Amino acid sequence: MGGEAERAKPVLFVTRRLPDAVEARARRDYDARLNADDEPLTPDRLRTGAAGADAVLCCPADRMDAAAIALLPERVGILATFSVGIDHIDMAAAHARGLCVTNTPDVLTDATADVAMLLILAAARRASEGERLLRRGAWTGWAPTQLTGTHIGGKRLAIVGMGRIGRAVARRAVAFGMSVHYTGRHRLPPELEMGAIYHPDPETLPAVADVLSFHCPATPQTHRWLNAARIDRLPPGAIVVNTARGAVVDDAALIAALRSGRIAAAGLDVYTNEPHLDPGYLTLENAVLLPHLGSATVETRNAMGFRALDNLDAFFAGRPVPHRIG
Ligand code: DGY
Repeated sequence: MGGEAERAKPVLFVTRRLPDAVEARARRDYDARLNADDEPLTPDRLRTGAAGADAVLCCPADRMDAAAIALLPERVGILATFSVGIDHIDMAAAHARGLCVTNTPDVLTDATADVAMLLILAAARRASEGERLLRRGAWTGWAPTQLTGTHIGGKRLAIVGMGRIGRAVARRAVAFGMSVHYTGRHRLPPELEMGAIYHPDPETLPAVADVLSFHCPATPQTHRWLNAARIDRLPPGAIVVNTARGAVVDDAALIAALRSGRIAAAGLDVYTNEPHLDPGYLTLENAVLLPHLGSATVETRNAMGFRALDNLDAFFAGRPVPHRIG
């Protein structure tokens, strides 16, 4: 937004602390209200922070439901989320209120796919169990039958949601010798499908899911996609990985299947009601649990922040907003 020094800078309320480089750019181009202490957003903080603001930059941990959107003063014209996911935003309420909503796609594809692969490997090879054994001083040395896991080469990876992230995971999995099956709203063209097998009927996917990995948004259609009935149709010893959103899994059903051994292991990065995940997961040796780290690299978080600012810049310059939703 250089060259506009004569105009007052738009007031930008930023709900959480952002990477230094992103905050520096926000400060340069906006009258930025930053959150140096990284306090979580509450209705009070939103009301106070957004008073007199032209824009809000929010994060996936902020509940921007209808009640929160109703707290935004009329003057706020844009809600730029520092995420690709938008399930924390009540889009109907935002649009009814005339808000421009933007997100940050593409830049977190590889980082998230890396964490999905990390979880596939960690769950298959019992990495967390091994580390816990070592840390509690219980490792007695190498033994032929100790902590034997599953070899992922030659296994079938079943992907729910073959968008950018799903495809990036598929590419990685193929390099590890896996074959890929997927379901989604549409079959991909061959250059994007890259040999993966499409299941137009999602109900045929569980039976081929040696590893089942979620890369779909949380929507009413994907809500609790993995339920007891679909778990019953997974091959014995299946592994479940979720780097998408907690809502796609029925926690009670997954925990019961992990407890009984019906599912060999799970690798989870996302949960319903974060950060208050179902405590049942914490007691399971065969669950690898990460605290929503999918996009957590310095490079990626910078790129997400810059993309959010690009959206804001375009909005205030009257240009088409690159990642406007709806
Ligand atoms: C997103 O952008 O939606 C991710 O979940 C953040 O890591």
